[in-house]
Amino acid sequence: MFIQTNLPTINDMDNLYNDLAKVYEAMYHSFIDYQEEYDFYSTILKKYNKKSILEIGSGTGNLAGHLVQNGFDYTGLDLSQAMVDLAKSKVSAGKFVQGDMRYFKSEKPVESILVPSRTINHLLTGEDINTTFSCFHHNLQQGGILCFDFIDAGEFMPLIWGGKKVMHEAVFEDTYYCRESIWTPTLEHGMDFNWTSFYFKKENEQLINIGEDSTQVRTFTVQEMEIFLKVHHFTVKEITARTSYAFPTYVVVAERD
Ligand SMILES: C[S@@+](CC[C@H](N)C(=O)[O-])C[C@H]1O[C@@H](n2cnc3c(N)ncnc32)[C@H](O)[C@@H]1O
Repeated sequence: MFIQTNLPTINDMDNLYNDLAKVYEAMYHSFIDYQEEYDFYSTILKKYNKKSILEIGSGTGNLAGHLVQNGFDYTGLDLSQAMVDLAKSKVSAGKFVQGDMRYFKSEKPVESILVPSRTINHLLTGEDINTTFSCFHHNLQQGGILCFDFIDAGEFMPLIWGGKKVMHEAVFEDTYYCRESIWTPTLEHGMDFNWTSFYFKKENEQLINIGEDSTQVRTFTVQEMEIFLKVHHFTVKEITARTSYAFPTYVVVAERD
C-alpha cells in the first residue's frame, strides 16, 4: 500500500524509539491509558464516520490493538523500524509500515489520518512542518479527516523556562522503571526545547542505568497550527484542550478541502 522512501531521519538521537524501544514499551503502559486513548479517538472517528485509519507514529502498537480489535480498517506508519517490529509482533492483525510522516506516499488516498501522542512535536523546522502537512493533504481523500494532538507552547514553555527536572515511574511485568527528564528551552526553530533523559531499572534493590536519550521537541501555539492548516487547505472542525500524561496538549480535528 505504501511507497517507501529512504530519507534522513528528523532526530538522529531519538534513542527512545530505537535502541530503547523495549524500554518504551515497558514504561509507556504506565504513562498512558490506551483504553482511554481508544475511547477518546474512536469517538472522534465515529463522529466523522471514518472507518479506515492511517495512524502516524504508531509506536509499539498499543492504540492499534484497540482499533483493530474494534473493527477499524487500520494501518500504522512509524519512522522507527524497531517500533514497527514490536507493533507487528503484538498486533498480528494490524498492518504496520516503516515510513516518515514528511515523505510517505499511500497508493490510494485514505479516509482519515490520526497522529496522536504528540508525534507532531517531533517536527522541528518550517520545512519539515510544511512537507508533513502537504503530505497529509496529498494522502487524504477530499473530505478526509486529519486528527492530531500537540504540546501547547502557551502553557508548557513558561513551566520549563528556567529548565525543569521531572521523574516518571513505571511498573511493567513486576519490574520497576524510572526516568529522569531534563527539559531545557532551546528556541532554535520556534518554541522548542531539549529533552535529555536517563532511564533506570530496579534489579536486586539497586537502580541500574539502562539508557539515555537526548532529543529536540517543538511545541506550538493554537494560532500557529491554525495557520499551518489553513495554508495547506484544511478546515478546522474542532480544537480541544486535553492533558496527556506529562503535557498540556490540544487535539485538532481538521477536514481536507
Ligand atoms: C511519543 S511516540 C508515540 C507512539 C505511540 N503512538 C504511543 O502512543 O505509544 C512517537 C512515535 O512517533 C514516531 N516518529 C517520530 N518521528 C516520526 C516521523 N517523522 N515519521 C513517522 N513517525 C515518527 C516515533 O518513532 C515514535 O514511535
